[in-house]
Amino acid sequence: MIVLGIETTCDETSCSLVRDGHEILSNVIASQIELHRPFGGVFPELACRKHLDMIISVLNDAMASAGVTKEGIDLVAVAKGPGLIGALLIGLHAAKALSLAWQVPFVGVNHVEAHLYAAMMGPVKPLFPALGVVISGGHTFMVKMLKTGTYELIGTTQDDAIGEAFDKVASMLSLPYPGGPAIETLAKKGNPKSFPFRAGKVKGQPWDFSFSGLKTNVLYTLKGPNAGRNAPLQIREEQKADIAASFQEAALSDIVDKALLAAATFDCKSLIFGGGVSNNQRLKALFTEKKNAFPLFFPPAGLTIDNAAMIAGLGFHVYHQQGHGDPLDLEPMTRIPLGV
Ligand code: KG4
Ligand code: ZN
Repeated sequence: MIVLGIETTCDETSCSLVRDGHEILSNVIASQIELHRPFGGVFPELACRKHLDMIISVLNDAMASAGVTKEGIDLVAVAKGPGLIGALLIGLHAAKALSLAWQVPFVGVNHVEAHLYAAMMGPVKPLFPALGVVISGGHTFMVKMLKTGTYELIGTTQDDAIGEAFDKVASMLSLPYPGGPAIETLAKKGNPKSFPFRAGKVKGQPWDFSFSGLKTNVLYTLKGPNAGRNAPLQIREEQKADIAASFQEAALSDIVDKALLAAATFDCKSLIFGGGVSNNQRLKALFTEKKNAFPLFFPPAGLTIDNAAMIAGLGFHVYHQQGHGDPLDLEPMTRIPLGV
């Protein structure tokens, strides 16, 4: 079964053709990073307009590079959410229109669930139950994954997503957007023990995350300890790498410590990661330093960021689990809980 995947939840327009849920025939991603860079984050209305400009050419490129014509496509899968409402509408309407025109079913899938599915598109398959950890610009959570499609929520962030904290701290340090890769590069030159930063603890919710206090800690380190709310940032160039390294260490250690403890506590046999922050090499090194014994599954190259291959892959499973496609009045969902 050849599935066309469509992804437009945030700032990447992507179309992909995937055979039987795992064999990637093409995966074309048009990134909007340059468009949003001057704003230091995603500008929703611009994202939506850019998706509209790009969707047809990205679709044509994905079909041409896979060597597949419309007659070869059996199912259209689209990310129905979570994401920016205007951005989601472009992908969803494109999927519905193609489904009608080509007379093939379509399914809407959960974008963050697809981030976890990406790690299962490699040659080695994880053992279940697995601990799923999504660490991206919009999401931070851990689920116990019994199989594809069955999740129990363990913990989530109470405030910022981890990638958002990387982006905001990068902006405080005058580093370019997106901040995660910029902080990782600068952190290599710094000492992670220079500043005693720690991620927050959530009272009574040991599996939840909190990164806003950590971010504020960095802010007041830059402003000076007794500075008022409106005091300017005083960035000393020679401190930047140490701040980046100490922030990164605090944020990533919190993920690694909680993930290892949760995997043991909830009897998981492997750990599966998804989302942009799982690109970070220090994250992988920390697992080794902390003597991790669980098999780790990260998305294959190119599938960490938002992409349509993970949507097509998951769509294949959703279609078979449901036994049918979705109705044409399927609505986009800006928020979708994963697991209960
Ligand atoms: O998964 P993604 O492309 O988008 C969402 O669905 O949110 O993740 C983007 C996020 C951004 O916040 C970016 O700064 C972060 O992932 N990121 C990283 C790294 N690469 C991307 N964070 C830390 N280290 C990295 N190497
Ligand atoms: Zn994403």
